[in-house]
Amino acid sequence: MKTIILTKDKLNIKSNQKLIKETINASKLIVFPTETVYGIGANALDPMAAKNIYKTKGRPSDNPLIVHIANKQDVKKYVKSVSPNALKLINAYWPGPLTLIFNKNNVVPKATTGGLNTIAIRMPSNKIAQKIIKLAGVPLAAPSANLSGKPSSTKLEHVKDDFMNKVSIIVDGGDSNIGLESTVVDTSVNPITILRPGSISKKMLETTLGEAVIDKSAKVVKGVTKSPGMKYVHYKPKGEVTIIDGKIEDMAKYVNKATTRSSKKIVVICEQENVKLFKVKTIALGSIKNPSQMAHNLFATLRLMDELNAKTIYIHHLGSKELAYPIMNRLIKAAGYKVVKV
Ligand code: TXA
Ligand code: MG
Repeated sequence: MKTIILTKDKLNIKSNQKLIKETINASKLIVFPTETVYGIGANALDPMAAKNIYKTKGRPSDNPLIVHIANKQDVKKYVKSVSPNALKLINAYWPGPLTLIFNKNNVVPKATTGGLNTIAIRMPSNKIAQKIIKLAGVPLAAPSANLSGKPSSTKLEHVKDDFMNKVSIIVDGGDSNIGLESTVVDTSVNPITILRPGSISKKMLETTLGEAVIDKSAKVVKGVTKSPGMKYVHYKPKGEVTIIDGKIEDMAKYVNKATTRSSKKIVVICEQENVKLFKVKTIALGSIKNPSQMAHNLFATLRLMDELNAKTIYIHHLGSKELAYPIMNRLIKAAGYKVVKV
């Protein structure tokens, strides 16, 4: 298969609009940008298209896909009901990085929802994403555009690394703005429950709803998590990742000691301000003063570890305040839950 790469401008050309429509009608795949990360999309109402996504990503078929829509009102076409709380969240955060879970109706095949009776839906704010969904004429099932287990893609070159000549179309949207996948929230249960943290925080959701929200994202029960995606290895570079939890000076001592013991290539990931404390190759995630920058750089930094051929990777624990919380949720998974306290 030869992949066609479309730039934003080419989306206005009639022949390419036809191509997008035909690709979707033929159960084929189109990678497109969103404000969070790139998504690998196909017709959410077509079981063959869903199967194609799972196969191309190498994703286990019980890990459900997020359905992307371009109009808020469309949510009603695919769910049994929208609760008053769900409606409040839709009105506050759509279009944007919030995915909501509902009980699904029969319009959506179980191939899309990983066999579940619930469905995850989000309306992205990225204008190119909205245009692609509108041109497709159907909702698009789109997980993050990475091979299963690898970090999500936030740059065109990462999409190409994983999917060049494996999908029909890749739409170039430049670098993803946010860099963290959407917050996933279950509205089919009471109280409303966070399954995956993102840039829309628990506090923001509670302020909007005026009531308490549960966060289940920290609890990963083997085999029985409500968000099936949580039980798989995720975001993993080839090297061995360890999170170092403690003062940066103590981390520096720990790493410098480990360096004298090991001949393997060691790389440190930490805050911009602390890079100078380390004797080994050190990559800044971003400034302490700019957590959005750290989120923006997160997945590119994890992918960079393989390019650097890093064998041992030490990452400073950023704490759990605000954006540090969803960032650490990804990094702890990248480390296979290996956290060392210093
Ligand atoms: O920002 C995002 O959400 C990106 C962009 C492309 O929109 N998409 C994304 O999709 O991150 P994916 O497939 O990589 O992650 C979807 C997460 C998984 O953890 C999955 O298990 C969960 O959402 N999920 C999907 N449907 C669900 C359902 N019905 N019940 C519970 N969890 C669900
Ligand atoms: Mg993903």
